Amino acid sequence: MEQIQIPFSIPMTPEAFKSNKFGKYNLRKLIDMKDHYSDKSAVEKILINENPIVYEFWENEYSGPGRGLSLGLTCIHPGKVGKEYYQTKGHFHVDNKGDEIYNVIQGEGLLLLYSKAGKQEEIRMLPGSLYYIPGTMAHRTVNTGISNLVFVSIWPPFIDHDYEIIVKNGFPKLVVEGPDGAILTENPSFNYALLKTQT
Ligand code: F6R
Ligand code: ZN
Repeated sequence: MEQIQIPFSIPMTPEAFKSNKFGKYNLRKLIDMKDHYSDKSAVEKILINENPIVYEFWENEYSGPGRGLSLGLTCIHPGKVGKEYYQTKGHFHVDNKGDEIYNVIQGEGLLLLYSKAGKQEEIRMLPGSLYYIPGTMAHRTVNTGISNLVFVSIWPPFIDHDYEIIVKNGFPKLVVEGPDGAILTENPSFNYALLKTQT
């Protein structure tokens, strides 16, 4: 991919990233996400009639000289699969390398984090707030609102993203619709023992 000329500026909106063809575009529809929801029958039921967009993101991986910064914008659409809210796949940064900053532009959600050492945290996401993600913690974002959840992410270059363990094991918590909005519940299929075999 063509390297973006530096310095540059770009509005923090999906429209700007789309029209500037900024970075690599990634589209995640429900079919791509089917292993990431605990209610498999709810997934199948929706897929009979449609394959909705769950989220899209643009990522500009820095590949120039020196250190640089990689940067992306994510837009999670509003919606649910059964009682679970639309969410990203979530990933670890390989070798626990590279912290990351998220900055929420629009919408509301939850940032789910956990480390292989057993630490876990869930943080509310609100527009105008910044979130610091340590390189040791897997991270997933969940749209708990009724409009798009849009955020910018910035991370060091030359970092690989590991999705494999998340497909197998999920996150410790599920975000589901409760009587008055989103609530967190324990994920019955999550198993910390599986992580002990990973570095
Ligand atoms: C990059 C990062 C974000 C995510 C994006 C999509 O390190 O954390 O830019 O890549 O929000 O989520 P995933 O990658 O989990 O599909
Ligand atoms: Zn990341």
